[in-house]
Amino acid sequence: MEEVQVIIVGAGPAGLATSACLNHLKITNVVLEREDCYASLWKKRSYDRLKLHLAKEFCELPYMTFPPNAPTYIPKDMFVQYLETNVSQLGINPKCNQNVKSALYEVDINKWRVTAENTLLGAQEEYLGKFLVVASGENSIGYVPEVQGLDEFKGEAIHSSNYENGKKYGGKNVLVVGSGNSGMEIAYDLSNSGANTSIVIRSPVHVLNKEIVHFGMVSLKFLPLNIVDKAVVLLGKLKYGDLTKYGIRKPKEGPFFLKAAKGRAPTIDVGSINKIKTGEIKVLPSITSIDGDLIRFQNGNVDSYNAIIFATGYKSSVLNWLQDDNHYFNENGMPQKSFPNHWKSEKRGLYSAGFSRRGLFGIAYDARSIAEDISSCLTS
Ligand SMILES: Cc1cc2nc3c(=O)[nH]c(=O)nc-3n(C[C@H](O)[C@H](O)[C@H](O)COP(=O)(O)OP(=O)(O)OC[C@H]3O[C@@H](n4cnc5c(N)ncnc54)[C@H](O)[C@@H]3O)c2cc1C
Ligand SMILES: *[C@@H]1O[C@H](CO)[C@@H](O)[C@H](O)[C@H]1NC(C)=O
Ligand SMILES: *[C@@H]1O[C@H](CO)[C@@H](O)[C@H](O)[C@H]1NC(C)=O
Repeated sequence: MEEVQVIIVGAGPAGLATSACLNHLKITNVVLEREDCYASLWKKRSYDRLKLHLAKEFCELPYMTFPPNAPTYIPKDMFVQYLETNVSQLGINPKCNQNVKSALYEVDINKWRVTAENTLLGAQEEYLGKFLVVASGENSIGYVPEVQGLDEFKGEAIHSSNYENGKKYGGKNVLVVGSGNSGMEIAYDLSNSGANTSIVIRSPVHVLNKEIVHFGMVSLKFLPLNIVDKAVVLLGKLKYGDLTKYGIRKPKEGPFFLKAAKGRAPTIDVGSINKIKTGEIKVLPSITSIDGDLIRFQNGNVDSYNAIIFATGYKSSVLNWLQDDNHYFNENGMPQKSFPNHWKSEKRGLYSAGFSRRGLFGIAYDARSIAEDISSCLTS
C-alpha cells in the first residue's frame, strides 16, 4: 500500500499537468495509468496525421513551455515528445499498467482508498490519499451507436480511435460515420489514400478552418461572444459558400456559443470540404440498417461497403470505478457543475481535471486551480 497526499487517476495531459502543478508546490502525488504508457490517447489511440487543432498559445500546459521554434499547429509526434521531455524534467512519475477498479472514501480515516489492478502481475494494488483527482478523460471509451445489423456486418467496423491511416483502404469502399473533427479528417485521409469514401453527416455542424477559429479565439478576448459568432459564421460562409446543397446544414446557434454551452466544437476543415464539393467524398444521411455488406440509408440509398469507421465520439468511464454518494459526476460521467466551477466537488477532496470540453486549454486551467485549492486546504 502506498500513501500520498493526492491520487491522480489517468496519465493523459490532464493527469500529468495536475502532477506538475502539485510537484511545484511540493505536494506528494501519484499518477495511475491503466495503459502501458502515459499520454496513451496521443500515442496509441489517434490517427497518424493528427495535429493540434488550436494554435500552440492555447495548448501549453503549466510549467511546460513549447520550444520557441515550434510550429503554430503542433503535430502529434512533437506534442508527445514535448510531454516526454517535460515529464522527466518536472519529476512527474506516472505509474503505468495500473488499471483503477475502485475509489472509495473511507469516512473513519478521511481518506480515499484506490484499488488498481496491476495489469502486468494481475495483482491488486492499493493507494491511500487525502485528495482524489479524476483525470481519466472525456474520451475514455470509444462510443459506437446501435445500428440494426451491425453485428453481422461482413466488412470491418472500427472506432476512429483504432484508425491509424488509410494505407490498407486503397480501392475499397469505406464509410465514415460522424462529421466532427475526427470523422472529417479521417474521410479526407482515406480519400487521399485512394479509398472510395463516403461520410454520414447526420446533425447540423459548423464548418470552419483553423485560421477562422483562431481569429475567433483571439477576438473573444475583447469582444462579446455573440458578435464573435456572427463574424466567424460570416467568414465561414465567405470561405465555403452555402453547404446545404452538399448535405451539410448549419446549427441555429453560433459555434462559440455551442462550444461554451454544450461542449460541441465546430469542425475544422483540413481539405474534406473541397473533396465533398468535387464529389470525391460522398455525403450520406443516417444509416437505417445493415444487411451483410449492404448498408441502407435514410434517403433510400443502398450500397455495399468494405469498412465502416465510426467517428461517433467517446464516453467518460469514471462511473465504472468511482464510488461517490454525492454525485459530483452526472449519469454521463461528466461533472454536474458547469465551467468554471466544474473542477471541484464540494465534499471529500474530490476533483476532476480535463472534463470541461475545452481541450488542453481547459486542462491547464483545471490543473492550476486544483493544485492551488489543495495547497490552501493543506495549509489551513
Ligand atoms: C483524436 C483527438 C484529437 C484531439 N485534438 C485536440 C487538440 O488538437 N487540442 C486540444 O486541446 N484537445 C484535443 N483533443 C481533446 C483531447 O482529448 C484532450 O486535449 C486531451 O488528450 C485530454 O487529456 P486528458 O488527460 O483529459 O484525457 P486523455 O488524454 O484521454 O487521458 C486520460 C488517461 O486516463 C487513463 N485512464 C482512463 N481510465 C483509467 C482507469 N480506470 N485507471 C487508470 N487509468 C485510466 C487513460 O488510459 C488515458 O491515458 C483531441 C481528442 C481526440 C480524441
Ligand atoms: C518541455 O519540452 C519542450 C519541447 O520538447 C522543451 O523545449 C522544454 O524545455 C521542456 N521544458 C522543461 C521544463 O523540460
Ligand atoms: C463508390 O461508393 C459509392 C457509394 O457507396 C458507390 O455508389 C459507387 O459505386 C462506388 N464506386 C466504385 C467505383 O465502386
